[in-house]
Amino acid sequence: MNSNYIALYLHIPFCVRRCLYCDYVSTTDLSLKEEYFNALYKEIALKGKKLKDRKVRTIYFGGGTPSFVEEEFIFQTFRTLQEHLDLSNLEEFTIEVNPESVNEKKVHFYKEIGINRISMGFQSTSDKILKTVGRSHDFNKELESYKLLTSFYDNINIDFIVGLPYENFDTVNSNLEFIEKMKPSHISYYLLDSSHDTPLKHFLEIKEMKLPEDDLVYDLLDYIYDQFEKSEYNRYEISSWSLPNKECIHNLFYWYNLDYVGFGVSAGGYINKKRYVNTSDVKAYITQLNDDKLPYRTKKLNDEFAELLETLFMSLRLTKGITYDSLVQRFSKNLVDNVLNQLKNNLEEYISIDDSIKLTTKGLNFSRLVFEKLLDIAPT
Ligand SMILES: C[S@@+](CC[C@H](N)C(=O)[O-])C[C@H]1O[C@@H](n2cnc3c(N)ncnc32)[C@H](O)[C@@H]1O
Ligand code: SF4
Repeated sequence: MNSNYIALYLHIPFCVRRCLYCDYVSTTDLSLKEEYFNALYKEIALKGKKLKDRKVRTIYFGGGTPSFVEEEFIFQTFRTLQEHLDLSNLEEFTIEVNPESVNEKKVHFYKEIGINRISMGFQSTSDKILKTVGRSHDFNKELESYKLLTSFYDNINIDFIVGLPYENFDTVNSNLEFIEKMKPSHISYYLLDSSHDTPLKHFLEIKEMKLPEDDLVYDLLDYIYDQFEKSEYNRYEISSWSLPNKECIHNLFYWYNLDYVGFGVSAGGYINKKRYVNTSDVKAYITQLNDDKLPYRTKKLNDEFAELLETLFMSLRLTKGITYDSLVQRFSKNLVDNVLNQLKNNLEEYISIDDSIKLTTKGLNFSRLVFEKLLDIAPT
């Protein structure tokens, strides 16, 4: 990848309602929408000044629910990007949509402004699960919206989560049947993370809701991996499967630890070895930008060790991992060998270290454990 390329992420923090399991920053209070977007345009203008010599390769509108806001806001955001950044090398332009808030007029507009990839969140095809976790759509709406998208796009990702309440082999099979029949070009299949402070966590604690047993979830995961193994999809990242040449280029920037710039509340970025995260508070985000200040919550410059560990952390998510040569080109050989020796000693079954450093099948399937252990590594 050309090292002058960058990826752009824009966070659109508005949702029809909040799903019980979700920890991402978003609000149902639409009264702040106008002010929020004005602040977002300002952030793009401020950051754009320092990015004049960089070429944008991908744009990703994520959320929240970008399809829930009117076209004029997406249009103006795109125009502001065009005005302040070099988009002449743009290859992939994605927007996240939800089944209940996407319609023909919007999809037509997305196509017109050059969006060439759509990511739609299903999470499940089971109406019982969807209703239980507070989704604003049912399976029929998913089908209707998916069919609408396919009349405009062939590059479509669908998100699923495994392990929600009422999950079982039947619900997983119905998700896999949808995939088998409709063949979206990309699937993200995530394992539910219930550790965050969400309404779901509260309902689990007071025993008003129950998750499937861990053993069942591991069996379901094995089953999902096996079914994909027999299909035309290629697993190229822990939770991502694609048809040939339909990998998500934007996410590859994260996984190869390449430069990306995040705009909007809670968005993160990594540019010229500096990593930052914006404030998670929508009102604070607006106020700081109204005062011409960049709305950072944290900002740090990585030293070489942190840089190497982050590169490993991200690239081990990819099934092909990262090559030894590319690591020693970026970092000192002594440091690389030191860290790889520690990995060998602590995680032998989970990581294979050869010309490439990558997770074994066991490592891919138990990646949370591997990443916890990676945090224990220190320079010696
Ligand atoms: C922040 S959401 C935005 C997408 C869109 N608003 C939606 O609801 O489909 C991005 C994706 O993260 C995943 N996700 C959100 N919360 C999760 C959780 N607690 N555990 C695992 N995956 C989660 C879902 O698959 C979701 O589609
Ligand atoms: S999962 Fe999507 S729609 Fe639901 S609250 Fe989170 S961002 Fe909003």
